[in-house]
Amino acid sequence: AYTPTPQDRFTFGLWTVGWQARDPFGDATRAALDPVETVHRLAELGAYGVTFHDDDLLAVEPDRDKAIERFKGALAETGLKVPMATTNLFTHPVFKDGAFTSNDRDVRRYALRKVIRNIDLAAELGATTYVCWGGREGAESDAAKDVKAALDRFREGFNLLTSYVIDKGYDIRFAIEPKPNEPRGDILLPTVGHALAFISELEHPERVGLNPEVGHEQMAGLNFVHGIAQALWHGKLFHIDLNGQHGPKYDQDLIFGHGDVKSAFFLVDLLENEGYDGPRHFDYKPLRTDDAADVWESAAANMRTYLILKEKSKAFRADPEVQAALAASRVGELAQPTLAPGETLEDLARDDFDLDAAAERGFHFTRLNQLALEHLLGVR
Ligand code: GCO
Ligand code: MN
Ligand code: MN
Repeated sequence: AYTPTPQDRFTFGLWTVGWQARDPFGDATRAALDPVETVHRLAELGAYGVTFHDDDLLAVEPDRDKAIERFKGALAETGLKVPMATTNLFTHPVFKDGAFTSNDRDVRRYALRKVIRNIDLAAELGATTYVCWGGREGAESDAAKDVKAALDRFREGFNLLTSYVIDKGYDIRFAIEPKPNEPRGDILLPTVGHALAFISELEHPERVGLNPEVGHEQMAGLNFVHGIAQALWHGKLFHIDLNGQHGPKYDQDLIFGHGDVKSAFFLVDLLENEGYDGPRHFDYKPLRTDDAADVWESAAANMRTYLILKEKSKAFRADPEVQAALAASRVGELAQPTLAPGETLEDLARDDFDLDAAAERGFHFTRLNQLALEHLLGVR
């Protein structure tokens, strides 16, 4: 029952299973993975698609043209799709002060060229989402970065890129991935909210949305489910990075559900019930302690966990006791507009409102929360 199929639309970045587990304190614990092997393995596990940074394709074949041919061959053999692509604007030392917002103008120009080249490939491979994670766009010192100028340059970059895809006739939209910090001390566009506000200042805001990552909002101490709900409300949930995180600390990129599992449950509940129809993309890192075979077990674990939570969400919604508890908590009443059609603020004066009685009414949220927990723990 928890066996994934392409209909589930699960996707993985090449850089996830391909992470060699280099960290700031230690060397790689695993060998480089051939993208061709990754494509075959993911297809065998029931994934729908694969995503990549431009540089990920060069993991074992340094010649770009040859690497692309091999990758295309694997896609053709397996039927795996490429719904999203992105650019590595953080590994090379040239990006140490950022890419679109580097103080060094030459670097900003090079960054745009690097993105454009990979957008052409993304379009060729049929990707409709282009993710922009600005991991190096930031600072460690408030003296070092003119933030308003940096936002001007960020906007300039997005305006150029959206005009480019429109001129080319590409069916591509951009998705900004917020993150509060790491690798920079502070990163620009640190949260879903900051990114949403930024998008409204762009020339083609309809072409730009979000790729929120579970762990990144949680690093900022924020409620990811609320962030996703608001992104959906704005029509801006273009893509999503699913993984796990234990609160505000370094970016753990755990397997989906291996962090805050209760939040993961409500996230799946939201995505499945609120009509998100994009890929369920996993952006996690197999544990550094895992060996080459464990990597594939970890990839499978992401999908299995998602499918388990999806089933739990269905059972939760179908449970008559839950439905009664939702009604007792007046959850549905919030969908009712505060004024009736035709009413004005003056009509409020005629309300027959008992202040003391209303203040006394309980909302019974404890019962509802406990029911959710019991579904999640498998005792209902
Ligand atoms: C992170 C980021 C990255 C980006 C990816 C796309 O963990 O900090 O999620 O993994 O998503 O590099 O550019
Ligand atoms: Mn991350
Ligand atoms: Mn990510």
